Amino acid sequence: MLDLFADEAPWQEPLAEGAVILRRFACADAQSLIAQIFRLAEQSPFRQMVTPGGYTMSVAMTNCGEAGWTTDKHGYLYSPIDPQTQQPWPAMPAVFRQLSDAASKAAGYADFVPDACLINRYAPGAKLSLHQDKDERNLQQPIVSVSLGLPAVFQFGGLKRSDPLTRVMLEHGDVVVWGGPSRLFYHGILPLKAGRHPATDEFRFNLTFRCTR
Ligand code: SIN
Ligand code: FE2
Repeated sequence: MLDLFADEAPWQEPLAEGAVILRRFACADAQSLIAQIFRLAEQSPFRQMVTPGGYTMSVAMTNCGEAGWTTDKHGYLYSPIDPQTQQPWPAMPAVFRQLSDAASKAAGYADFVPDACLINRYAPGAKLSLHQDKDERNLQQPIVSVSLGLPAVFQFGGLKRSDPLTRVMLEHGDVVVWGGPSRLFYHGILPLKAGRHPATDEFRFNLTFRCTR
């Protein structure tokens, strides 16, 4: 399909102190990122994880990199092994690394070297409740979050769950980077609206790069 916005240059939108949206930053790499997602999922399939409280998450997840975010009976953890396949998570593809590197630099974080990439797949209705990314040992490093496919409403708050929320639509190719003062800010995704996207059909994918060391 002809994408009238394919040549649109990326632009930046400040979100909070230490947090910025790099609009369309990943558009040029989107096709290869998506191809890699499908390849990775052949090795470590998407699965709906069950929280320690017994709730099956609506978002389907997998990981790549040296460590992957997962759940077990006791809590949330980063594991070098995919509990479903009992094999290491697949390695992080070069195009993932390069994008994360360029995005973190563009956002002003110089030395971000992620060892983990969580891959989220949203089908219509899937959501991610308000949460903090706080299972990483290294909170000095930012989070780099890449949106692909269908648009979704991202909520970004503050250090307290009750802090006021900013709601922004994240679209295909948008990258959000948050760190420093906003590293532990609450955030989430509202239920995905059904639709069709030329690159991902009825899904939204999200890549979040983290440094867990
Ligand atoms: C996350 O918080 O892990 C993902 C956010 C998103 O899907 O944009
Ligand atoms: Fe998160």
